[in-house]
Amino acid sequence: MRGTTQRLMAEHEEINSVLNTLFRAIRLERSGTFLGARFWRDAIDFIRGFSDEFHHAKEENILFPVYCENGMQDDYGPVAVMLKDHENFRSFLKIIEESLSQGEEDNIKRWQATGNFIEGLRFHIHKENNILYPMGEEILSREDEDCLMQMFDLVEETLGGSSTVEHYRKLAQSLEERVVQAFDGALQTEAN
Ligand SMILES: [Fe+2]
Ligand SMILES: [Fe+2]
Repeated sequence: MRGTTQRLMAEHEEINSVLNTLFRAIRLERSGTFLGARFWRDAIDFIRGFSDEFHHAKEENILFPVYCENGMQDDYGPVAVMLKDHENFRSFLKIIEESLSQGEEDNIKRWQATGNFIEGLRFHIHKENNILYPMGEEILSREDEDCLMQMFDLVEETLGGSSTVEHYRKLAQSLEERVVQAFDGALQTEAN
């Protein structure tokens, strides 16, 4: 597997772990244990800053255009589907953000949008890992790969490089810890 694919797939793992946390967060809230607006704002921060900016920016601004220079199309086929998915994720995120006042209706809206977001992004990641990236490796040359590596480095540097990665890794851990704590709290309440 090529270095650029490994880098993107490692980011997918980080994103997937937050999707698992969010899945448990919805289950908790649906059963009456609320995580609070701060938790959801931090989750939105992770999705926007890491998943969309740090990760999708490399796909949309660097990788997909190189695919299209080498025979793929951006108006139909796999690249077009991935771009449409990215747009849908931004729409779901907007709904989640608008739902933080926590009225009854807003809660339901947030749970539905988060559920759709999780399901969509898990499937999207699966498609990229198993279909799009392997297709890309078939059509791109060694020179393309070297050039992509350099462009990935450059764009990551402009976005804060390893300190940004570390920041979002810690944020992902913190989100998970808060869900575990809330889950323990809910169990204790049930036991009393
Ligand atoms: Fe993507
Ligand atoms: Fe991706």
